Amino acid sequence: MERIPYGKHLITKEDIAAVVEVLKSDLLTQGPHVKYFEDAFADYVGCKYAVAVSNGTTALHLCALALGVDNGVKVITTPITFVASANCVLYCGGEVVFADINPENYLLNIEKVRELLLKDLKKEIKGFILVNFAGNVTDLESFRALADEFGCWIIEDACHSPGGYFLNSRQDKVFSGSGMYADLAIFSFHPVKHIAAGEGGMITTNDETLYLKLLNLRTHGIQQDRSKRVENHGEWYYEMQSLGYNYRLTDFQAALGLSQLKRAEKRLEKRKKIASIYNNFFLDKDYIRSHSGFSEGHAYHLYVIEIDNRKDLYDYLRNLNIYCQVHYIPVHLMPFYKSLGWEKNDLPQSELYYSRCLSLPIYPELTYEQQKYVMNSINQFYNKI
Ligand SMILES: Cc1ncc(COP(=O)(O)O)c(C=O)c1O
Repeated sequence: MERIPYGKHLITKEDIAAVVEVLKSDLLTQGPHVKYFEDAFADYVGCKYAVAVSNGTTALHLCALALGVDNGVKVITTPITFVASANCVLYCGGEVVFADINPENYLLNIEKVRELLLKDLKKEIKGFILVNFAGNVTDLESFRALADEFGCWIIEDACHSPGGYFLNSRQDKVFSGSGMYADLAIFSFHPVKHIAAGEGGMITTNDETLYLKLLNLRTHGIQQDRSKRVENHGEWYYEMQSLGYNYRLTDFQAALGLSQLKRAEKRLEKRKKIASIYNNFFLDKDYIRSHSGFSEGHAYHLYVIEIDNRKDLYDYLRNLNIYCQVHYIPVHLMPFYKSLGWEKNDLPQSELYYSRCLSLPIYPELTYEQQKYVMNSINQFYNKI
């Protein structure tokens, strides 16, 4: 069997044609496709504003800046995420406070967050970064209520969940990034994600003030609205009003993202189908402690199982050309975060999860034959030991 990775992108003829068209044009950086992509993406997630940026990490950085993270500001997030979800707080001089996960859904445990807020007598915790791990969309309605109680903001890290949703208390579908409950949401277009643009990111929001701030921060802090300039020396004039960055997305990446976005819904359906095949297969397997489960709004960036003998299974599958992955090494146990004072046993549920988790191959082009090979190989491994 040819190598089966845990995730894989697909570039079509249409994608290539869309990129080539931009490469032949005069504008490679901020051309018209950036705005087309932003508008189409805002439409897709159902929010008012979208800001395209160079990747998901820069999206997080700009969100943290726009929300005022600075020295003395503490922000809560989960350790079961990619390091970028936490690092953005440190970029701005703030402090990360990790809370443990809920072992049922692998997302931040709201009760643990509440405990931290109640202990925060100096009111230094100003916000939460909620990660829709694996594609499972957080109950943002409950977190919004908690955030409002304690005067906090919410960034939804939606890198794993474009097209995903949760059902709120009225049973309405609340789409990831729609801005109904979170102040800002961020996405990544790294090739392993649902939409591949090489590198790329998007911030979505319904808040006009934050939107305008983000536009300026993305381009060196240069005021994008001519009417808001303090001075005007002529047509050549530009004015830097805050300390910003160059976090722009190129026009050809935007064209690629836009082309990919057109197929996003179809591809999401394929991910869901693959997940339901795994779910059915694992239903009666005693060696499975837990898995990603099936909820209709899950976007299935990852399909995670929890098993014993994870390392041996990982090596066994690799020898069969099945390249699974582990998501994630708890961020608080990274040597850098340990140097800031975090220690083993600080977050027991996250650490237990890490000792048993394995992400199985899931991507729209995974064939049934390949998936059967993966499932049968896992079975064989547990029949042998
Ligand atoms: C949950 C999460 N947040 C943030 C990021 C950062 O995105 P990027 O790689 O586009 O910088 C990633 C990507 O790996 C991610 O998975």
